[in-house]
Amino acid sequence: MKKIIVIGSSNVDMVMKTSHLPAPGETILGGEFLMNQGGKGANQAVAVRRMGGNLIFMAKLGNDILGRQSLEYFENEGIDTRYLTLTENAASGVALISVDSQAENSIIVASGANMLLNEQDVDRITEEMEEGDILLMQLEIPLQTVVYAAKKAFEKGVKMVLNPAPACNLPQELFPYLYMITPNAIEAEMLAGMKLGTDAEEVGKKLYEMGVKNVIITLGAKGCLIIEEGISYHVDAFKVKPIDTTAAGDTFNGALCVGLAEGMDLKQAAVIASKASSIAVTRMGAQPSIPYRKEINTNI
Ligand code: RIB
Repeated sequence: MKKIIVIGSSNVDMVMKTSHLPAPGETILGGEFLMNQGGKGANQAVAVRRMGGNLIFMAKLGNDILGRQSLEYFENEGIDTRYLTLTENAASGVALISVDSQAENSIIVASGANMLLNEQDVDRITEEMEEGDILLMQLEIPLQTVVYAAKKAFEKGVKMVLNPAPACNLPQELFPYLYMITPNAIEAEMLAGMKLGTDAEEVGKKLYEMGVKNVIITLGAKGCLIIEEGISYHVDAFKVKPIDTTAAGDTFNGALCVGLAEGMDLKQAAVIASKASSIAVTRMGAQPSIPYRKEINTNI
């Protein structure tokens, strides 16, 4: 099976359940507290691994208690740790997450070591890249590193899937290097420079015209809109009762890439990705919520 190379962030998530998200200046008493592994890069890597993908994961952690525990955790997950490095120059990434009674969250990330992942690191991993492999990235590491990796991947015939989260303005030169981009509706509108609430198909077509080969706009409970080489269609979400949407998008991206690496067409891959993320939202936490392949294969 083709390799899936994930380059991205790893955080430890400090999660608190709450009835509602506090307003500025408000103090509220929350509910249960959980501490678990997170970070968009690591969540996507774990999703690839649990879905049975052939994973290589690159991330930077602090050489501190959280970083060392994370490394041990990745080893226990069966993840190859050759490209996970501990740095003395920054603390491990941490995210503060509040989850309200409607399963919505708010997240603040202290990036720490994630922001030290640089072009030299990418150079180390390019030797693993072979034509037809998939490179999956997000935006919790320096944008310069993402653009550099995209260019390297493109030159090697590797298909780059970019989950553009958290949203930021992307340089125009990046788009033609991308095999696929997977924003949510708000991220898509921002990238396309369109008003909030613009029809998703219009936004997706604009992103396609900007040079990305394929676009998937994730729409939460409404499923996702796919623009496959300019042709648009919709894939429904599975109906579930969500309790925490954290890492739903990450699970979708990881599972999507496994489907593609196994040779599924884009629609089939989006269906298993949708199933995986629908399971993730029924559980608390980022990585604790990510399902295993055997859970996906039922009822699909
Ligand atoms: O996508 C969810 C993730 O965003 C969390 O795990 C948190 O660490 C932040 O990176």
